[in-house]
Amino acid sequence: MNLSFIQPPQVAWASGALADGPLLRKSTRIQDLTDVFADENARQQLAGEQVVYDVEMLDTSPAEGELYTGVTHLYPGRVGCEYFMTRGHFHARREQGEVYFGLRGTGLLLLQTEQGNARLEKVFAGSVHIIPGFTAHRLINTGEEVLSALAVWPGIAGHDYAALARGFRIRVFEENNRVQAKEVQNG
Ligand code: F6R
Ligand code: ZN
Repeated sequence: MNLSFIQPPQVAWASGALADGPLLRKSTRIQDLTDVFADENARQQLAGEQVVYDVEMLDTSPAEGELYTGVTHLYPGRVGCEYFMTRGHFHARREQGEVYFGLRGTGLLLLQTEQGNARLEKVFAGSVHIIPGFTAHRLINTGEEVLSALAVWPGIAGHDYAALARGFRIRVFEENNRVQAKEVQNG
């Protein structure tokens, strides 16, 4: 019997483009990010339709034990002085972790525990980020090109955005042409 060779989905490492899979796509725009950035007035001055980030993921099973794979493309830009970033979340199933792999661009991964301890990891092509359970995560694009990162996470993890509705404890701004991270009281 001749066995055929299955063609798997592919990721283009240089761009993060996914191909040959059942794909789901979601765009998050300025108009979707009310109260996410420090300067809400500055957000309202921007075009609501402007896309801040796109997520492409393989449409695979969400069953216990299965894994999701997706790529986030976070565009360069700022709201006021604050760099474009993802909304950020804890997993609904708090104990579930995730791995991010930087593919292109430069930025930061903001991690924050349930106790409110926050830290930043540099993201760049080839960076590997182990996000433990019980740790919220947000990508920040501090560069001038698209920041793309591949992620693999448990199908059962889910997302809890509400727990950090008041924001993370660190915000990242451009000041005097430099990347400045500041601790803030909310979060
Ligand atoms: C999945 C995950 C990423 C993010 C994506 C968008 O658990 O961490 O795929 O979902 O980077 O960010 P959020 O979901 O915070 O809008
Ligand atoms: Zn996640």
